[in-house]
Amino acid sequence: MIAVNDEAVEPGGPGVTRRQVSDAQTRMASRGWWDRDADAYQAEHGAFLGDVDFVWCPEGLREADARLLGDVRGRRVLELGCGAAAAGRWLAREGARVVALDLSAGMLRHAVAAADRSGVRVPLVQADALTLPFPDAAFDTVCTAFGAVPFVSDSAAVMREVFRVLRPGGRWVFSVTHPMRWIFLDDPGEGGLVAVHSYFDRRPYVEHDAHGVPTYVEQHRTLGDRIREIVGAGFVLRDLIEPEWPEGHEQIWGQWSPLRGRLFPGTAIFVADKPNDDA
Ligand SMILES: C[S@@+](CC[C@H](N)C(=O)[O-])C[C@H]1O[C@@H](n2cnc3c(N)ncnc32)[C@H](O)[C@@H]1O
Repeated sequence: MIAVNDEAVEPGGPGVTRRQVSDAQTRMASRGWWDRDADAYQAEHGAFLGDVDFVWCPEGLREADARLLGDVRGRRVLELGCGAAAAGRWLAREGARVVALDLSAGMLRHAVAAADRSGVRVPLVQADALTLPFPDAAFDTVCTAFGAVPFVSDSAAVMREVFRVLRPGGRWVFSVTHPMRWIFLDDPGEGGLVAVHSYFDRRPYVEHDAHGVPTYVEQHRTLGDRIREIVGAGFVLRDLIEPEWPEGHEQIWGQWSPLRGRLFPGTAIFVADKPNDDA
């Protein structure tokens, strides 16, 4: 989030606002953005993410250490908003039966390239997390690191869709930008230490082109909102992890920096279970 106008789209040039946009505009913006940005995203973050590795967040927490998904051997796992699917390939190497899904063909092209480089292949599906092309109870585990959830206008609907495709007893783990980050500017330096936005302003962050058409939309939910969406879908929330910035980790990722990371959380990781039928 950079400095934003409140509502108004200034005529004559690209800009940034906080304002409501429709579902259709959000989907179009996301698809276009991630297709256009795929090469730049991978150029900037590909080395940090690896080709076969599961990194939950810019703080560098790895599934190999955190084990939030439990033992995945033999499990049917869906990676949502997979991008280049490094996490999906790591899970496959751990013995999981993985499907990796993303809205963006541009991101999935990087998944194909990384599969060629690493020799680890998982089935790739281009689809929207809001309408998953899978039958009920098709998976034991669903996960995503910063995929899909922050980029849909109805994240409660994603929770319900994930609930549907999980078997009873299945696990859902997702990471997002920590909600408290939304009160600050997207600045990894001193400028990102001053509260300027209301935590309670749920209007999305919208970048738009010269015609006012949204080109990037990211959604804010408070911690309470996220918990209500998870529980409202039927899940039991097991944990909320706020990874601390590790000593000696100096890598900046956008607004995530050692300066800010030492003071307040940048990532929230939600761990939820679909209850067993007999629960
Ligand atoms: C910040 S990237 C994260 C990618 C990957 N998980 C990682 O850790 O690098 C967000 C991803 O979510 C995908 N995405 C956005 N909206 C989506 C939607 N509605 N359904 C599925 N994927 C979506 C984007 O295409 C993009 O690949």
